[in-house]
Amino acid sequence: MKPTASKMVAVAAVMALGAMFMSSVSSEAAEKQGVVKSAFGKTTDGAAVDLYTLTNKSGIVAKITSYGAILTEVHTPDRTGKKGNIVFGFDNIEGYLKGHPYFGATVGRVANRIAKGKFTLEGKEYSLAVNNGPNSLHGGIKGFDKAVWKASVVKSGDGPSVKFTHHSPDGDEGYPGAVDVTVVYTLTNKNSVRIEYTATSTKATPINLTNHTYFNLRGEGDVLGYEMLINADNYTPVDDTLIPTGSISAVKGTPLDFTYPHAIGEHIKELPGDPNGYDHNYVINGGGKGLTLTARCYDPQSGRVVEMQTTEPGVQFYTGNFLDGTLTGVGGFNYQIHDAFCLEAQHYPDSINHPNFPSCVLRPGQKYHQVTEYTFSTK
Ligand code: BGC
Repeated sequence: MKPTASKMVAVAAVMALGAMFMSSVSSEAAEKQGVVKSAFGKTTDGAAVDLYTLTNKSGIVAKITSYGAILTEVHTPDRTGKKGNIVFGFDNIEGYLKGHPYFGATVGRVANRIAKGKFTLEGKEYSLAVNNGPNSLHGGIKGFDKAVWKASVVKSGDGPSVKFTHHSPDGDEGYPGAVDVTVVYTLTNKNSVRIEYTATSTKATPINLTNHTYFNLRGEGDVLGYEMLINADNYTPVDDTLIPTGSISAVKGTPLDFTYPHAIGEHIKELPGDPNGYDHNYVINGGGKGLTLTARCYDPQSGRVVEMQTTEPGVQFYTGNFLDGTLTGVGGFNYQIHDAFCLEAQHYPDSINHPNFPSCVLRPGQKYHQVTEYTFSTK
């Protein structure tokens, strides 16, 4: 039997409706789980920058931009299930271009300080830009945090994942060797942001990559009441420009002891010579050999917990001591002193000038590899 014209129109209409339904279902599914890429603006050189929004099975959201491979937002539920952003950042490129203290950034080639911006490697002395008092900090004037990275969505059985790559030429910011670096962010279905770094170099060069996320587990106010645990019996004491003296000292009996959980603010005023707050490198117990518990922080008010693990031997615990209310970020949050804490996985500061510290030198033929995970939960 031949279908009549009216029947054919009806079938076509049903098919069209079906297609519309399917596409709305699949775009909803994409928003629910997976990766959505959107434009984030342009740098002052006119380079286009994207934002990748990752959503995992339980609806946790992490956003990363190709500018600086920066983690811009992380939305997790509090103990009542209400979701909110728990990291500092901006929702547009302009915020980052105006200047900021490494919010969420991928920092390199060398995170933290190099004394006087100088080091000698294989008999040659290198001079870097001095951008923090007398020292070089966080990779120099234009570190990896200010590069536009290439990005691609990758398949991972663990959850939505995006890979960022960057080529740093020989002599970049004064460092020897051309370095190719890859950073893979995965928002796992176990509610972790996992950051995996690899790098190779054409010449021996120091390398010390980190992520500089500022956490505020309730989206407002200071972090002094949060309970912090740091899995470290020792730290690296510093001079008054925050360069390690070279010794490794016990935290026991000092305001640096977080081997038992207690409020960040409890002993903050007792810190010798640094009334501003914590800005110290801790030597992780058993660290540097594999993924090791580094720290755990709990906000009694929101119930949120973040637990950190890393393969690095050290972690910089920093309490946003230089935030001064001049920056306002996502959600209109005005960032004041002690409104965040950072846990920066790293080799110890100024390692390149301290032969007794674990080496941060990457040589041709070797592969740098670093994994850090921040896992979110509530209690
Ligand atoms: C440093 C601080 C610095 C902050 C922002 C931290 O890693 O230890 O001294 O102010 O980064 O640059």
